Amino acid sequence: MIIAVDGPAAAGKGTLCHKLAKHFNLAMLDTGLIYRAVARKTLNKSHLLDTKCAIETAQHLSLNDLNVGGLRNEAIGSAASRIAAVPEIRSILVNFQRDFAKNPPDGKSGTILDGRDIGTIVCPDAPFKLFVTADPEVRAERRYKELQDRGEKAIRSAVLKDIIDRDIRDKTRTVSPLEPASDAQVLDTTGLDPHIVFSMALDFISSKKR
Ligand code: CDP
Repeated sequence: MIIAVDGPAAAGKGTLCHKLAKHFNLAMLDTGLIYRAVARKTLNKSHLLDTKCAIETAQHLSLNDLNVGGLRNEAIGSAASRIAAVPEIRSILVNFQRDFAKNPPDGKSGTILDGRDIGTIVCPDAPFKLFVTADPEVRAERRYKELQDRGEKAIRSAVLKDIIDRDIRDKTRTVSPLEPASDAQVLDTTGLDPHIVFSMALDFISSKKR
């Protein structure tokens, strides 16, 4: 079983994926962490987002690199979306993701990947595709609360600006722009509780299985 989940920043993909992974016994890959890990390692080595260094970093990435702390901050998120627009970096990282998708670790019944281009590019043959979205203001508010809960300083207007800037960058890049796959079920989570979104996703998956 492969479930592809795409959508913009802070739409609720992570929460939904955790629930689906638990329900169907799937190994989960948050592919944003891959771009974040490459961005962070590149920044550590070269300070600027040096493309050559980023390509080398992507070539040597391992799953362990995704478990380091500090990847979730907003500065790394912005740097990740810049790195993610470089075609050579994307093609290296797409192979990394396909490898994971096809080889669930021991005991797992399949995989669930969340990102921006899983249903369109990484796993175009995935039988179940979801596109999770919400209004930018709602996503910014959720991200603002997440940052506060983690004890990070955040300014509401800056969080909204970052979300909007990243949406534009992710949707307008020439390689793998953020868009729903033609066979994806769009779930707009604006105003919906996570358990409702989960049950909508389960309904969609059972309808495809029938
Ligand atoms: O957690 P959040 O939704 O804020 O972002 P993320 O999923 O961690 O992704 C960070 C950035 O990586 C995104 O803004 C995208 O530019 C990029 N990304 C991508 O291009 N393709 C993916 N499959 C996943 C992330």
